[in-house]
Amino acid sequence: MTVMTKPEQATAPVAAIRKPNLITVEQAKALDVARITDLFKAHLNPGQLHFMKLLGFHKVKIERAEGMFYIDQNGRKILDFFGGFGSLAFGHNHPRILEARKKFQEEKRQEIAIAFMSQYAGALAHNIAACSPGDLDMVFLGSSGSEAMEAAVKLAERAAGPKRPKVVYAENSFHGKTKGVLAITDGSLYRADFKVVDNTVRVPFGDIDAVERLFRADPEIGVIVLETIQGGGGIIQAPAAYWQKLRALCDQHGVLWVADEVQCGYGRSGRFYAFEHYGVVPDVTALAKSLGAGKAAVGAMIARRDVYMKAYGTPKTAMIHAMATFGGMGEACVTAIEGLNVLYDEGLIDNAADTGAYLLERLAALKDKYPKIIKDVRGKGFMIGLEFHDFSQTLPMVLRPVVSVLDDKLKGSLSGFVGSLLLRDYDVLVAFTEYNRNVIRLEPPLICQREHVDRFIEAFDSLLSRGIVSIVKDFVKSQVR
Ligand SMILES: Cc1ncc(COP(=O)(O)O)c(C=O)c1O
Repeated sequence: MTVMTKPEQATAPVAAIRKPNLITVEQAKALDVARITDLFKAHLNPGQLHFMKLLGFHKVKIERAEGMFYIDQNGRKILDFFGGFGSLAFGHNHPRILEARKKFQEEKRQEIAIAFMSQYAGALAHNIAACSPGDLDMVFLGSSGSEAMEAAVKLAERAAGPKRPKVVYAENSFHGKTKGVLAITDGSLYRADFKVVDNTVRVPFGDIDAVERLFRADPEIGVIVLETIQGGGGIIQAPAAYWQKLRALCDQHGVLWVADEVQCGYGRSGRFYAFEHYGVVPDVTALAKSLGAGKAAVGAMIARRDVYMKAYGTPKTAMIHAMATFGGMGEACVTAIEGLNVLYDEGLIDNAADTGAYLLERLAALKDKYPKIIKDVRGKGFMIGLEFHDFSQTLPMVLRPVVSVLDDKLKGSLSGFVGSLLLRDYDVLVAFTEYNRNVIRLEPPLICQREHVDRFIEAFDSLLSRGIVSIVKDFVKSQVR
């Protein structure tokens, strides 16, 4: 069809679209901390800046990152015991990961995996299946933990069938913030104001009798979703007997078990999957975080083949939840393939078990030394939680008004004060816990050595030796500086 245009339109010059005021890559790298703060406030998250300021994190601009350390604008080396909540198995910028990515770029390989079959997605799926016990052989690739968990729950729900639509989840759970998994994430802060799907039932974590009662009482239950070690909940574990009985109950009642290993998986606990400590295998699981080797966004859902085939195994059902646009991107897959090779070549799972046990042992000694400050240390491998006593009631009367002017989130919680001072005075970074403000999470890269543990313990010991009153005073002073 010919489109008629008016003569004046046909002859008018085409106006060039003006380039907006854009920051270039080199300008972005050179931004100073004040300008970064402005951009964060103007375009990213003004509310979050409040917490950054409270903790003193807003003064830091990271220029480089290598191995166990961040390096800031003043050349200060910050020891990373936060590890991106378990996203940095190899530390920062591992040379083998960088090399694999560089080569892939130089060879101008293809990225998008949805037009043709991808050798990279195929190889990564093979590697993940090779690392997975039993018949956990089928892999869906995505770009986040939430996406992997969405895929896991959808697959299990379809495989369970319409007569078993109910999904059980645990108190204190965290499975992501996207709309589907929000329904099984047990945090009122995250989900209070949203309408979430209501085919869910909540049980206490670690209480096998509660699970058994539920399975017996309600034949509509088809799926149970659990983090093997609760991360966001403050590093909470259940005993081996719980998992063994859970497997038996699921088999007996025909319920599918989805194990969320997004945070505790990938060698962090001292086994590739944390459930391997208990000699049981779930029906569906999920990985993300370190799967991208600290350089790429990669998440994966892994399912038993028969469960997968039941859900999506025919040409008619194959596309119901096939990979999304960015699932199986070339360079991301190559990064993850190299990552898995490095994980085993460098013995990092063994290191997580051994050096993690050493860290736990040294923390236990500190707990004995400061019984009024440290309430508990717990965890496995490099997934460790350190819980402080709630001090809001034990703090001397004179200091209570000072603390009461601080943010609600910090009242009664030593973690904010300790985390802030560890960074300011000792160049050490640790992680906070949203669900339990008294817990600090330690999830260093799996390359962490005893010398790093010693340095961390020395810093922590020195800080705690000041005593609670001085810690609080030092923190408050840093606020008015
Ligand atoms: C156990 C668990 N599941 C799911 C997620 C969601 O992962 P992501 O933040 O990559 O979406 C997280 C994130 O912290 C997690 O810890």
